[in-house]
Amino acid sequence: MNLSERNFLFPVTFCSFLQRAFVALALTGFLTLPVLVAQDGKKADAAALKAIADAAVKSMQAAKTGKGGAAGDGNVYQRICQNCHGDKGQGNVQLRTPSIAGLPDWYVMAQLGKFRNRLRGAHEKDLTGAQMHAIALSLNDEQMKEAAAVIMKMPLHATQNTLKGDASKGLYVYMDQCMECHRYNGSGEVAFRSGQLVGLQDWYMLGQLEKFRSGIRGTDRKDEDGTRMREIASRLRDKDLANVLAYIAQLAEQYVGELNAAAGKGGSDGKSAAK
Ligand code: HEC
Ligand code: HEC
Repeated sequence: MNLSERNFLFPVTFCSFLQRAFVALALTGFLTLPVLVAQDGKKADAAALKAIADAAVKSMQAAKTGKGGAAGDGNVYQRICQNCHGDKGQGNVQLRTPSIAGLPDWYVMAQLGKFRNRLRGAHEKDLTGAQMHAIALSLNDEQMKEAAAVIMKMPLHATQNTLKGDASKGLYVYMDQCMECHRYNGSGEVAFRSGQLVGLQDWYMLGQLEKFRSGIRGTDRKDEDGTRMREIASRLRDKDLANVLAYIAQLAEQYVGELNAAAGKGGSDGKSAAK
């Protein structure tokens, strides 16, 4: 093996090692996540690191021991997912988890499948994705279906414009480049397998668009939908990012109440915010 091959292979091997180490150590209760997160290049404070590690350990234990997540007891979400995604699926900016409430079941199943099959969350730089990869590996199909059904019934939390983009500029970008697949109201479309955007946080979407652009998500040829979204994200100009997300927050303000009502979900009139 020549040097360049070795340089290429090293991160891949190292990455699967990290993931296996993560699964193994999280199960035995060691705080491995601070190490992973520290390598993410973002400075998280000690409290955030501890919160992430605690949530991960708790969830992995619940998934693996008989105590949590036995399929059929209806509590997979409460025992496993809620530790990181919140009791109402609202997400958590400190843990950097998306607001998944109200995501359609087909989309949740598709993403869990990708996390499990290393089409998402397997890149060595994808440390938030690695957490979900580890969780997905610990779930069986029944548990996934059960969690997806619970998530779909939760009222959406409306996207907020925390990145302070300009929605009036974002409107043109959205109409031009996003609406075709994510629809006029940001609800996504099963026919295109495009995700629902109006319940997600703007910082989460920015992170995902950056992952698509930098080849951390959507690069595997087997991941057709991810590859499609990667092409779109790569065409976006930097200055359009915050603006298009601000416009999605505007769509959320307008349509989240309606989407919840149409799905027979009480609770959120669109004022409840994705965290
Ligand atoms: C240890 C914390 C943790 C736990 C526990 C956890 N998740 Fe996640 N989840 C995350 C993180 C972090 C992400 C964001 C991944 C990324 O950045 O790509 C995520 C992303 C997701 C996504 C992708 C959302 C999207 O819009 O594409 C789904 C679906 C999901 N989680 C479902 C679940 C389900 C179902 C459970 C319970 C069985 C669960 N998660 C448990 C941390 C967690
Ligand atoms: C050709 C169809 C298409 C167009 C156009 C499109 N998307 Fe997507 N988008 C998708 C698909 C399909 C997915 C799901 C990818 C996957 O399965 O991983 C997606 C996923 C996403 C996600 C990740 C959602 C999540 O839950 O993690 C974001 C954010 C997103 N798109 C934003 C945009 C924005 C902003 C635009 C316009 C600039 C846009 N998309 C244009 C098809 C499209």
